Amino acid sequence: MTTYYEEIGGFETFRRIVARFYEGVADDPMLRPMYPEEDLGPAEERFLLFLVQYWGGPTTYSDTRGHPRLRMRHAPFAVTPDAKDRWLTHFRAGLDEVGLTPEQDQQFWDYVTHAAQFMVNTFE
Ligand code: HEM
Repeated sequence: MTTYYEEIGGFETFRRIVARFYEGVADDPMLRPMYPEEDLGPAEERFLLFLVQYWGGPTTYSDTRGHPRLRMRHAPFAVTPDAKDRWLTHFRAGLDEVGLTPEQDQQFWDYVTHAAQFMVNTFE
């Protein structure tokens, strides 16, 4: 059975999406200060490996980080509706970068929009 991961081009496609996403985060005055580490590289790697695993690629993420527990891992950060919208804007740029088919794009976009909504933990 072909996984979605393989279907869209495997590791290289995910790497490009996440690289573009992090370029956006690096330049975002609201999001950048939320990332605890000076170097965004390790955070980029964690997110990349998570997405690779989620879509059927290698399970390196859980092998090294354990169960994702994403909502819990975001609890230390004030994820407001505004932060979520910015986050999604950068992810949209990442998806645009790789030019998936409309069906593939919709599938990925549906997932991240729902996941991002789920991560919101601060309302003001
Ligand atoms: C809604 C807006 C979001 C904001 C503002 C946000 C922000 C952050 C921040 C500040 C970190 C810590 C960086 C690090 O040291 O790893 C992080 C980690 C992470 N985020 Fe998000 N995030 C958002 C949504 C999402 C979504 C939708 C996903 C998944 C689809 C996701 C997946 C991850 C993963 C996998 C990690 C690393 C977890 C770990 O292993 O420690 N995030 N996020």
